[in-house]
Amino acid sequence: AAEHPYSHLIDTLKDGQIKFFNPYKLNDPRYDKLPLSIRVLLEAAIRNCDGFYTKQEDVRNILHWQQEQNKAEVPFSPARVLLQDFTGIPAMVDLAAMRDAVAKHGVDPSLVNPKCPTDLIVDHSLQIDYSKCAIQNAPNPGGGEGPSGSPASVQQIENTPLLCPFHLQPVSEVETALRNQEMELIRNKERLQFFKWCSKAFKNVNVVPPDVGAVHQLNLEYLSRVVQVSDGFIYPDSVVGTDSHTTMINGLGILGWGVGGIESEAIMLGQPISLTLPQVVGCKLVGSINPLTTSIDIVLGITKHLRQAGIAGKFVEFFGPGVSQLSVPDRTTIANMCPEYNATVSFFPVDQVTLKHFKKTSELVTASSYMKAVKLFRSYDDPSEDPQYSEVIEFNLSSMVPYVSGPKRPQDRVAVSSMKEDFQSCLDEKVGFKGFHIAKEKQEIRVPFLHGGQEYQLSHGSVVIAAVISCTNNCNPSVMLTAGLLARKAVEAGLLVKPYIRTSLAPGSGMVTHYLNASGVLPYFNKLGFEVIGYGCATCVGNTAPLPEAVVDAIKQGDLVACGVLSGNRHFEGRLCDCVRANYLASPPLVVAYAIAGTVGVDFEKEPLGLTSDGKEVYLRDIWPSREEVQQIEEDTVFSSIFKDLRGRMEKGNTFWKNVECSDSLLFPWDHKSTYIRSPSFFSKLVKVPPPQSIENAHALLFLGDKVTTDHISPAGSIARVSAAAKYLMSKRLTPREFNSYGARRGNDAVMTRGTFASIKLQNRFIGKPGPKTLHIPSGQTLDVFEAADRYQRDGIPLIILAGKDYGSGNSRDWVAKGPYLLGVRAVIAESFEKLHRNQLVGMGIMPLQFLSGQNADSLELSGKERFSITLPESLSPGQELTVKTSQGKSFSVTALFDSDTDVILFQHGGLLRYVARTLL
Ligand SMILES: *[C@@H]1O[C@H](CO)[C@@H](O)[C@H](O)[C@H]1NC(C)=O
Ligand SMILES: *[C@@H]1O[C@H](CO)[C@@H](O)[C@H](O)[C@H]1NC(C)=O
Ligand SMILES: *[C@@H]1O[C@H](CO)[C@@H](O)[C@H](O)[C@H]1NC(C)=O
Repeated sequence: AAEHPYSHLIDTLKDGQIKFFNPYKLNDPRYDKLPLSIRVLLEAAIRNCDGFYTKQEDVRNILHWQQEQNKAEVPFSPARVLLQDFTGIPAMVDLAAMRDAVAKHGVDPSLVNPKCPTDLIVDHSLQIDYSKCAIQNAPNPGGGEGPSGSPASVQQIENTPLLCPFHLQPVSEVETALRNQEMELIRNKERLQFFKWCSKAFKNVNVVPPDVGAVHQLNLEYLSRVVQVSDGFIYPDSVVGTDSHTTMINGLGILGWGVGGIESEAIMLGQPISLTLPQVVGCKLVGSINPLTTSIDIVLGITKHLRQAGIAGKFVEFFGPGVSQLSVPDRTTIANMCPEYNATVSFFPVDQVTLKHFKKTSELVTASSYMKAVKLFRSYDDPSEDPQYSEVIEFNLSSMVPYVSGPKRPQDRVAVSSMKEDFQSCLDEKVGFKGFHIAKEKQEIRVPFLHGGQEYQLSHGSVVIAAVISCTNNCNPSVMLTAGLLARKAVEAGLLVKPYIRTSLAPGSGMVTHYLNASGVLPYFNKLGFEVIGYGCATCVGNTAPLPEAVVDAIKQGDLVACGVLSGNRHFEGRLCDCVRANYLASPPLVVAYAIAGTVGVDFEKEPLGLTSDGKEVYLRDIWPSREEVQQIEEDTVFSSIFKDLRGRMEKGNTFWKNVECSDSLLFPWDHKSTYIRSPSFFSKLVKVPPPQSIENAHALLFLGDKVTTDHISPAGSIARVSAAAKYLMSKRLTPREFNSYGARRGNDAVMTRGTFASIKLQNRFIGKPGPKTLHIPSGQTLDVFEAADRYQRDGIPLIILAGKDYGSGNSRDWVAKGPYLLGVRAVIAESFEKLHRNQLVGMGIMPLQFLSGQNADSLELSGKERFSITLPESLSPGQELTVKTSQGKSFSVTALFDSDTDVILFQHGGLLRYVARTLL
């Protein structure tokens, strides 16, 4: 093997037992001025320098960050990849298919493994099929009372009415959680078998079975290390994940962010992420924290501050004397919010507080000497250690008062003290983010209704959904404990929550339940109606159970602005439930408080929260737990047990998972009847020598305008009954109720290809109105996009797409390039591309071609119906101009948007998957 270009930097620890790359041996004074997050990028580039994906020039560029920031493109190979089940499936299916493909060429299939260690966490398939009363309606399979019966059949469960009368007796939260788990396992059997096979067949793959916890929480509490050690080298931990909460990890000084399924797959296949060397905004924390604010308030305060600072696409790194006041849970909560202000990460370099947190869990002596040796450790109180940031913004922690946000957007914050007035003004205001425009004479309306035999009234501002979710703040036990203590004090004071309010408690992991129970507050949550509904990501992905019918009717009758209050980190109008127009994000204790008040139109200072049974007024301040009280309980019950419990769950697994059958084979035994897992055809024509790439006489499959987003391109959500995917599934004898969602079927390329461009919002210029249709040009027929593409493919006609500006913006979706590829699309010609999507296209061997500046399909007078030919030169270079010739005799130039020679090589191999497979041949 060739000498590593940076072998001269290798140093050792622990009497030579552990090696590391020591940047101090570069003798470069710039290192000490680099933000610590950039030092992490530098270390990874040094260690992974292979001359192909990562070059010495990249290392030099990172070191030269002061000048190169926002200019140089640099690679980053994270220490590990984190996948959740939905996004994990396609990547794993591709690797399984690659094993088949190389085996066909006589290569040992066991050589196909993720190059980067991958944790796959099975949690997002949890659906709240059962909530506290629905379960009473479910057929009881075992005939008994307890959870001991055998799992109900899919048929029985799917026939269970989801809308349930509300007066039924609640069942224990344990049973509810258990039923959810059974449901999940039945529904997902094929996928679980596949995952289990992956965990056995692949090296570098760790599968966390269902119901252990949500991705981000496991990432935080179980999978994270300050450092990683492999092949005798110690290096800082870093991660990319497909969960939007991945950024939480930066609160632990572990660099990491969320990526799309395609990007994570690329990293698994050995390709680093490419990023523009980021600018790093230093966020200086000063002042001291007001004891009444929860960390959520601090988070929202800092979020707003950072939003206003306009730091989209940058790194944020915290420093200043205020940082050491923040506990690790506070930091991770803040770090979790960075998607709200579009920063790539919010990084809290490792300090004494971080190390102390880890001490509870693992050996840290070596880690700490390593981090100190390379100055990835810092003391926030010592300003002489402060790096030079691109810019500095200061935040005074004393300025925080409690807030909620809403009614429609997370950025619209309302101080709790002015909530009543603010809601009133929302009723008055014209319809908008802060307005519902309710006529004056209708604002006082009260609608009576019956619930469980009792009469209640709803009015504007009535709370009908109250969800204590620890999706965001699971990492912050103090907040959940504050809520629990508040619940306890409320119950002790004789207060209750009205029974028609849809209350739920989604603790994020069993551990949260555990510490709520251990601290004695769980029964009080339950007494107020907040019962555990499951451990996956629940309400925050929109899976709330429906409201009681009488409540829905009352809301409709009075055209009421009913409210949801939840402690998630995102919310969108109508997302919780169609008829709930105002949704507020609030800290868990405030969710409890508003649930008890039954309305958001309350001034906690001046009005009581409720009355005791003997009519005594109780104010919020009477029952709000003090910071000291909370911290004491946190110390006593939480930290010691958290890690132990999770480790126990991980090691024990669960009986369902243990009983999932799977093969021990090196190749996956595809089940040809499966409609969830199918071997994709990416490798169907894999040959040792890449095929030529010129495009002859292509038709335009679609003629699109500006701003075609990944939502238009890649299938998501439910599968429409009238769609190409539905036809396919029906041909497999599935009924519409068995279709499940595109997300759940992304391990089936046949479904996903049919779902590509199947959005009802697709604006195709070939067709007058929005819809998933296109013109099959040779026949003049209007067809589903898939059917047209299928006909072209059968006739051997290559395809291109014509598009306007910003093609492919929006969230990354794993099928956004695979889908078009399998439809036969060879190139997309657009006025401009979202950069990420451009890379995704290249990764699948599709050419992103850009019209020359000032030109577009209209200026070139293209009808879209002509045929297009693009001849590629022998040697292609990044950014080269190519000529497109049409069958009408026109010709025009376009730019081939390849960033680098590596990009060109990947493209020439027909994308990354085939490139990797071919290197094995
Ligand atoms: C932070 O704000 C508080 C109160 O508003 C003020 O007393 C204090 O001086 C401020 N601290 C700094 C460092 O600006
Ligand atoms: C964040 O990004 C989204 C989408 O790119 C954009 O619409 C929004 O304005 C950005 N917000 C901020 C605060 O930069
Ligand atoms: C709560 O703790 C009690 C006593 O330790 C135990 O019996 C019970 O099973 C626990 N409940 C939950 C939901 O963990």
